[in-house]
Amino acid sequence: MTESAVAAEGLEKRYKTFEAVNGINFRIAFGDCFGLLGPNGAGKSTTIRMICCLTDVTAGTLKVLGRDAHPGNREIKRQLGVVSQEDNLDPSLTVRENAEIHGRFYGLGFRQARQRADELLAFMQLESRANEQVRALSGGMRRRLVIARALMGSPRLLVLDEPTTGLDPQARILVWTKIRELRSLGVTILLTTHYMDEAERLADHLVVMDRGTVLERGTPPELIHRVVGDDCLEIPALERDTKDRISRSLKERPVWMDYQAGSLLIYGKDMDQVIEQLHDLRLLPRTYYRRRASLEDVFLKLTGRELRE
Ligand SMILES: Nc1ncnc2c1ncn2[C@@H]1O[C@H](COP(=O)(O)OP(=O)(O)OP(=O)(O)O)[C@@H](O)[C@H]1O
Ligand SMILES: [Mg+2]
Repeated sequence: MTESAVAAEGLEKRYKTFEAVNGINFRIAFGDCFGLLGPNGAGKSTTIRMICCLTDVTAGTLKVLGRDAHPGNREIKRQLGVVSQEDNLDPSLTVRENAEIHGRFYGLGFRQARQRADELLAFMQLESRANEQVRALSGGMRRRLVIARALMGSPRLLVLDEPTTGLDPQARILVWTKIRELRSLGVTILLTTHYMDEAERLADHLVVMDRGTVLERGTPPELIHRVVGDDCLEIPALERDTKDRISRSLKERPVWMDYQAGSLLIYGKDMDQVIEQLHDLRLLPRTYYRRRASLEDVFLKLTGRELRE
């Protein structure tokens, strides 16, 4: 088998008696943008911290860029760019200095680090802020700086733990554009996000995990097709009684239904026929929406609707 950028087999992480990651398997191909999805507490950041050699592996194997990941593996760290979930910028330094100092870690000389910092600040559209102190930046600007900083060592593998959380729509689009640019340059990308539209747009492959285990894996269209079917019929403001009659009438069909806050969602194939049938039975209200099923639907079906932690 060809080498993968990341290969996890039976990967576990235990904190005392708590299994945060419970024997997961996945591979990330070189050049892929790989999405790691899951509700709060699923074990995404813990998995990422093992990949980034920030915490040790409890059991199983974890190869990153062909080497065993363990804390202190500088050979791996040298080739990684990391955007961690909590940004750890130095607030007392300027924007440029934060990037430059990081460059030194990757062995860049002073002049090189300055040049690369300026390029990357421009890349993330922060050049006009280069001389400001980090504490003067907005949350979104700080996030963009963390991404710029992660690129200082020209990483082979870029690890992004919720890179766009808290960003406004314009900044998210900027980050998406940059992620695509990097991917087209051959950088392998590992991404976590709670924005399913983002994962659907960016990820070539993804896994959905929960409670330390992998629930599903595939490309976004594969997952949508397999988990919920391609089409969704959404009927808002529906009485429970009508909902029950609809459920009964569709019993024989390969559809999956979800009733939440008075809205009925019907997922599956052959939605034209479903609509026709409900119409003929006079069960279809005047207002309904038909749309393509999305990764968000997949996520909610796999992980449920109740809040975590
Ligand atoms: N250092 C630690 N000590 C003990 N438990 C921990 C530690 N770090 C994480 N955990 C626990 O491990 C589980 C997984 O946490 P993790 O941060 O990996 O989740 P996540 O998928 O990144 O969630 P989120 O979407 O909220 O960022 C959680 O229950 C968390 O409380
Ligand atoms: Mg996390």
